[in-house]
Amino acid sequence: MIISLTGLFCIILFILAIRFMATPKTANMGNYLAIISMMMAIIISFSPLPENYLWLLSAIFFGAIVGIFFGEKIKITELPQMIAILNGLGGGAATCIAMAEANIFDQSSTISLLGGIIGAITLSGSFIAFCKLQGIMKKRKIFASSAIVNICFLLIMTLAVFFIDKQSFMVDIIFCIALVWGGFMVYPVGGADMPIIISILNSFSGWATVAIGFSYSNILMITVGTIVGASGSILAYIMIKSMNKSLLKLFIQSDLLKTEDVTEKIPNEGSPKDAAFIMESAKNIIIVPGYGMAAASAQYAIKSMADILEKKYKINVKFAIHPVAGRMPGHMNVLLADAGVDYEKVFELDDINSEFSETDVVYVIGANDITNPEAKTNHDSPLYGMPVLDVGKAKVVFFVKRSLNTGYSGVDNPLFFAPNTIMLYGDAKKITEDINKILEQ
Ligand code: TAP
Repeated sequence: MIISLTGLFCIILFILAIRFMATPKTANMGNYLAIISMMMAIIISFSPLPENYLWLLSAIFFGAIVGIFFGEKIKITELPQMIAILNGLGGGAATCIAMAEANIFDQSSTISLLGGIIGAITLSGSFIAFCKLQGIMKKRKIFASSAIVNICFLLIMTLAVFFIDKQSFMVDIIFCIALVWGGFMVYPVGGADMPIIISILNSFSGWATVAIGFSYSNILMITVGTIVGASGSILAYIMIKSMNKSLLKLFIQSDLLKTEDVTEKIPNEGSPKDAAFIMESAKNIIIVPGYGMAAASAQYAIKSMADILEKKYKINVKFAIHPVAGRMPGHMNVLLADAGVDYEKVFELDDINSEFSETDVVYVIGANDITNPEAKTNHDSPLYGMPVLDVGKAKVVFFVKRSLNTGYSGVDNPLFFAPNTIMLYGDAKKITEDINKILEQ
């Protein structure tokens, strides 16, 4: 009775935790609630302690040490990779439970087999996603027919779940095939689509837990798995919609990157002094942060810039956030909030896009793909269909980056060569601090 009530309390805490994480103001509280409910869930799952509890406690202790170590050590720019690994571990755990069940009873239930398959796909898919985010697996090779490969795997798995004898040996083979499928599924996915894939893998880890929960009649696993599965699915849906993609296209797209050849053109180049001079005489400025701001930890410098422009020069400053700017959902919002930027000055793409045409200066700091106009015009671009910030419509656009290199999607940005664009080459933090010094004089 006490265990059931505690389980119910855990479920309520999990739901509240997710709710609190919806806004930056309450996100910390959401995290604390999630930690408490997860600890309670672990305690009640192992109450009363089984005979081999020493193994169990050692595993929990070792897992906690690894988690704390990486949690402390990880840089904020590497969080997406960490999320990919955590998703994969969730899926891997589900597969291990399903394998153990099949090996103990020499037979697997259909639901447990299904959970193990989803878990194995999540494990290998997340590993490939990690390698891509970490830059270990950068350029994609062309799969002539990733659609056919995926359909073949789907057929094999359907036959496996419904028609084969689920003895342990066969179950192990099926899980190995599912592992290979996960890798094939994620490998051809383009750079710009990685956020969607991470959300899908997140939801997979939840659904795998649900299936295993059903097989063990464990209400806590079913409920928490459903929360993770549903929230991951909703996030994936929101991203697919906001990037104008389709789920089918995501897995069957061609990897060919056809972009306009811009290598012969020469962009306008400016200095921090030029930027400060132009900014001083502007009436309104929009700052567009991207991954490079996170990489350079330039959020504090950018907050100081906004303060100087507003207080000393009485300029109206706003921040424009693209839904997939950076490397994880809400990446820019978290960094700007951390630097103390007022939420009311931060605007989402749909709310600010119409304002660029009436803006004097746009300061694009470490962003690239999210401003690429080819997303609207070039059908062959992997970015095609993704809504972008119309920064090119402003009177003057500054791009702060170290070179003309491409962003995450690997495609060139023709906006660098536009007549109203001025490139400010260098580290995002250094350039912004240099401009600030001149503005302050
Ligand atoms: P990107 O298109 O990746 O461009 C970032 C730019 O920052 C690069 O072109 C790089 O140019 C510059 N940069 C890197 N370090 C810098 C530094 N220290 N100082 C100055 N500039 C620096 O970023 P974005 O515009 O934010 O777009 C995000 C991309 O990541 C999208 O394609 C998105 O689909 C993908 N993605 C997003 C997520 C989520 S959920 N947000 C997850 C995975 C992938 P230089 O090398 O020339 O400096």
